[in-house]
Amino acid sequence: MSTPSSVHHVAVGDTRLAVHTAGSGVPLLLLHGFPLDHGMWVAQEPLADHLRLVAPDQRGFGASGGPGPASIEELADDAAALLAALHCGPAVVCGLSMGGYVAQHLAVRHPDRVAALVLTDTKLEADTPEARAARADLAAKAGRLGQAIVADAMVPRLLATSAEARARAGRAAIEAALRAAILRQPIATIQAALAALAARPDMSAALRSVRVPTLLVVGAEDAITPPACMEAALEVLPHARLLVVPHAGHMTPLEAPAVFNRAVLEFLAEARVHPG
Ligand code: MLT
Repeated sequence: MSTPSSVHHVAVGDTRLAVHTAGSGVPLLLLHGFPLDHGMWVAQEPLADHLRLVAPDQRGFGASGGPGPASIEELADDAAALLAALHCGPAVVCGLSMGGYVAQHLAVRHPDRVAALVLTDTKLEADTPEARAARADLAAKAGRLGQAIVADAMVPRLLATSAEARARAGRAAIEAALRAAILRQPIATIQAALAALAARPDMSAALRSVRVPTLLVVGAEDAITPPACMEAALEVLPHARLLVVPHAGHMTPLEAPAVFNRAVLEFLAEARVHPG
């Protein structure tokens, strides 16, 4: 992450999380999506000029210890324990997709840990029966054929596909980095996470009691959690603000980092969480 940055290994529950930190001030907890690790936040490094970035590899992923997640709730409890271990006050909790599910549970289970939410390219609803079946199928294939089958299934759906998006500088490098990140995650973690994702509950009712300032961000071309998911979230969280980012897919912070980073800083200044 940004300079100066450091990596710590922090004992959390029955495992040790690798966590990258940079900057100072209000903590910004960055929770990665599936099946990635903290590296997906590389384009948020400039935010370390304003905030204290805390970017863990969630259990089982990246350089963190296993086992993989038993549930999304467990990942939220890990995140709360990590913030406590790092002596962080209430944090701005930013999660993408699976990280967004974790952020929602963190806000409900550990409200004292959350000063504001940034939910990006995620949703509140549980899986449909078809989605659960597809996850079980992918977990079985991953067991037989390895990580490459997961990368083949996911990478083409992660990024925007419009001509404008395809023509963007750095597109091939982002695609290669995403593939490499998927290939380095342990199969057992991928399988555990797929089961945890399939079992996660609908959060709409629980989130109605969460009143912290909330920014919802989604790529206009997100094929996994399309803008309609965030529009539905806005009905549950009427105080939230929604930003739909043109020519971005499921990885908005990577695909449109300048827009994303500016939106986070403006949101925090307006919500008076950070002076800007
Ligand atoms: C992610 O990006 O974290 C996953 O696509 C989440 C999901 O499959 O629900």
